[in-house]
Amino acid sequence: MAHRWTNKLTHADVTPKAAFLNRRQVMAGLAGVGLAGLARPADAQEGLEPNSWEEITTYNNYYEFGTRKDDPAKYAHTLVTEPWSVKIDGLVDRPGDYAFQDIMSEMTVEERIYRFRCVEAWSMVIPWDGFELADLLNMAGVQEGGKYVAFETAYRPDQMPGVAFPVLEWPYREGLRLDEAMHPLTIMATGIYGETIPNQNGAPLRLVVPWKYGFKSIKSIVRITVTDTQPPTSWNMAGPREYGFYSNVNPNVDHPRWSQGSERRIGGGLFAKREPTLMFNGYEEEVAGLYEGMDLAKNY
Ligand code: MTE
Repeated sequence: MAHRWTNKLTHADVTPKAAFLNRRQVMAGLAGVGLAGLARPADAQEGLEPNSWEEITTYNNYYEFGTRKDDPAKYAHTLVTEPWSVKIDGLVDRPGDYAFQDIMSEMTVEERIYRFRCVEAWSMVIPWDGFELADLLNMAGVQEGGKYVAFETAYRPDQMPGVAFPVLEWPYREGLRLDEAMHPLTIMATGIYGETIPNQNGAPLRLVVPWKYGFKSIKSIVRITVTDTQPPTSWNMAGPREYGFYSNVNPNVDHPRWSQGSERRIGGGLFAKREPTLMFNGYEEEVAGLYEGMDLAKNY
């Protein structure tokens, strides 16, 4: 990898888009986070090496299009993402149906290179383009009594072959505590590697909460509701003992059926060693304060 920063070209340098974008966006991503005045995750300072476009867009979980990792890349093209609107309702000053284009004209999109850790114990590093969820919530104006934010994915049986199967209760639903939703690391992603986010990754906009297991990062959002009570979430309803509301990445709290102490980095090759999973997925410095005094084994 280091050779990309020298003038000694090797065959690897000829991987045109990925190599060029990786370098440009590693730098842009770090600058962006620095400008936002955030402490940078320790490993971001060391320089995270993003996964390739190919890996990020062909190894997916999006059960509305099937449960195999390659199903979303094969079938999600049927999802119509234009026009798109997001209903924002509940405890907000300006409820309504917000057209995607109107949202985008108000938001500042920046690049964020985040670790991504699935509850199934695989991981990637993804260079997202997106805006802070806090900016969208502030646009709608969160009211005094708001304590949680609920999210819903589109439910379109004619465009989503997977919803014919009762794998989960549809529509896919997720939720955050309001302070988690307002945290500057929490983004709505609209792109990857500077390209429009592909359908299989949750076009046209999906949540990314980098210190939580990947299933919290709900795709293709059509509704955001500010509530005063903890909202029901799809995976928690499917398996309350296995998938909690918080689902913070935590190597010390195992899934009942497997260890969460280590992870398999996608693209690492067949013989790659598993990597140790980091507390809060490496974002402990930024987010541990949100959970002060809480028993993280109970609030899994
Ligand atoms: N959102 C919806 N609507 N449906 C899903 O099946 N899968 C989740 C999450 N968001 C899922 C979803 C899970 S389990 C993971 S790990 C991530 O999306 C995967 O995101 P990626 O395919 O972009 O890597």
